[in-house]
Amino acid sequence: MTETSPLSIDGADHTAALERALEQKTALLHEVDHRVKNNLQLIASLLLLQTRRTADPGAREALRGMLERVNAVATVHRRLFQNEDVQRFDVSEFVRDLVGDMVGATGREDLRAHLDLEPVAVSAARAAPLALVLSEVVGNAVRHAFPDGQGGDIHVTVGRDDSQVRIEITDNGVGRAPGCADGFGSTVIQLLCRQLKATCLTEDAEPGVRVKVFLPLNGGG
Ligand SMILES: Nc1ncnc2c1ncn2[C@@H]1O[C@H](COP(=O)(O)OP(=O)(O)O)[C@@H](O)[C@H]1O
Ligand SMILES: [Mg+2]
Repeated sequence: MTETSPLSIDGADHTAALERALEQKTALLHEVDHRVKNNLQLIASLLLLQTRRTADPGAREALRGMLERVNAVATVHRRLFQNEDVQRFDVSEFVRDLVGDMVGATGREDLRAHLDLEPVAVSAARAAPLALVLSEVVGNAVRHAFPDGQGGDIHVTVGRDDSQVRIEITDNGVGRAPGCADGFGSTVIQLLCRQLKATCLTEDAEPGVRVKVFLPLNGGG
């Protein structure tokens, strides 16, 4: 029985085989990308349907929060796959999408977003947890800082130094009411920051609230 050893394939055949393998891999990646996107869309649609059918305000609010989190993950996914390098996640591009979507979704013209963004890449593995933290913080500014009739500004800056990514979200709204209780959003932020080894600080911005997120760049960036 004769068998062709891979070593005996001549140069042209070898290149053709590699090109075929690469084409197959690329097609597979697109296929998976499509499926993930469709599945996230499906989950979001189900949550939206359930939200609309829920009369209880507390349950409705919880479902709306989950829909927002799924949307944040879908945005991460879209961003990663629009990128040439699927291993790296640009925090600033994500923030631009997130803030645009969240402020846009309010339909309010009295909320203004100001972005000061430096390109900062982190590993794809950290993309979803970081995105969820930012979605909670921006969501809080959008939802709690500006009651009806009171407009204002949301400033977001993204930058880095040698050791960490720095993200600041500041609103000039009503501020946190004295003694107001943490909700599920705060728990999500704490859990994910611990996972990311990140720090999240909330301070009074007089007026409004400033939240600073510091994400160390070591450990895979
Ligand atoms: N930017 C903000 N401006 C005013 N109040 C805020 C802001 N962020 C958070 N809060 C207050 O802190 C509370 C807890 O926030 P959070 O833990 O995210 O829970 P939730 O958003 O589900 O109420 C909010 O209910 C709100 O009263
Ligand atoms: Mg919240």
